[in-house]
Amino acid sequence: MSSASGAFGLYLHVPFCRHRCDYCAFATWTDRSDLADRYLAACRRQIIEAVAQGLPPVTSVFVGGGTPTLVDPRALLDVLAAVPLADGAEVSVECNPDDLDRPLAQAYADGGVTRLSIGVQSMVPEVLATLGREHDPANVRRATEAARHAGLPFNVDLLYGAAGETLDQWSTTLDAAIELGPAHVSAYALTVEAGTPLAADPGRHPDDDTQADEYQMATDRLGSAGYDWYEISNWARPGHECRHNALYWSGGEYLAVGCAAHGHRDGRRYWNHRTPERYVTAIEGGTSPESGAEELGPDERRVEGLQLAIRTRAGVAGDQVSDAVVDELDGLVERSGGRVVLTTAGRLLANEVAIRLE
Ligand SMILES: C[S@@+](CC[C@H](N)C(=O)[O-])C[C@H]1O[C@@H](n2cnc3c(N)ncnc32)[C@H](O)[C@@H]1O
Ligand code: SF4
Repeated sequence: MSSASGAFGLYLHVPFCRHRCDYCAFATWTDRSDLADRYLAACRRQIIEAVAQGLPPVTSVFVGGGTPTLVDPRALLDVLAAVPLADGAEVSVECNPDDLDRPLAQAYADGGVTRLSIGVQSMVPEVLATLGREHDPANVRRATEAARHAGLPFNVDLLYGAAGETLDQWSTTLDAAIELGPAHVSAYALTVEAGTPLAADPGRHPDDDTQADEYQMATDRLGSAGYDWYEISNWARPGHECRHNALYWSGGEYLAVGCAAHGHRDGRRYWNHRTPERYVTAIEGGTSPESGAEELGPDERRVEGLQLAIRTRAGVAGDQVSDAVVDELDGLVERSGGRVVLTTAGRLLANEVAIRLE
């Protein structure tokens, strides 16, 4: 069932990377691309079976990873061709700058992709090296030019808080990223994820105060360049907000395709087998790819809704938060136009604010 707004999404996970970045805990493998053809065929089959069981028209697709640009674009577009898209649907693909050239961007555009998200992270070579990123910074310009040539608006993903990153270096990254002309910018605070090489190296852990200064700089710089802030880590030119992400933040529903993908349907949250092998085996054997699910009660659902919504520009309805809580969070949230929204200071402490909303 789609939501009252008619929005219904599809997340497709591509779990292959050329190299694992030191900070990354996503479900991705560097030694299994021999599985790619079978994997994509399984994704296609999963979608075809979901359609046969009655999938609503899909208003947004997000192909994420891993590195979607590592797999054969024809095979990936074949998977997308099986999706029953609603008119005007948004179809985004995450791209590695090393892979995105004119032919690939054009193939995506011809195959119905409407938006690219490019993993830039930093425009400063030393910072990229500290992050353990291997893409060639020179390819970022080629990638964004290819997107533009194919007529595809693009997002750039930026990451701040690498060990030793100075405010000057972050300023260089912001200015150079704006110069690339993206329609959308995501700037993420580097987080230490358990089990990663970064977690095992406390000397490289980000410093909270530096990250707070970097966030403030991103807010000022992106704001004055015409990008409106609309969620903690996201800024867009008017009309270029990512509809698929908005679906996540508003408790909307979406189908999970591929290994380790999470979905939300008919009020139920579920996730697929974590490894590509298990996922492929399940689909090829005609069984469900799901490995777990949970159903939230009405109260948990309401609290989760508040915690997601407070992170967005629209905030939460004014009557959902008592005056006592607003007073307690003085300086971090404010009442505005019948809503409760984060202040700029509150955006830095969004997690702390969110846990106070019940
Ligand atoms: C999982 S990656 C997939 C796309 C592509 N492989 C890439 O790296 O650009 C999506 C985004 O997640 C962000 N990310 C991954 N690990 C992170 C971490 N530990 N802290 C903050 N952001 C992270 C990066 O900015 C990255 O662009
Ligand atoms: S950050 Fe992106 S490229 Fe790096 S390992 Fe994670 S998914 Fe792969």
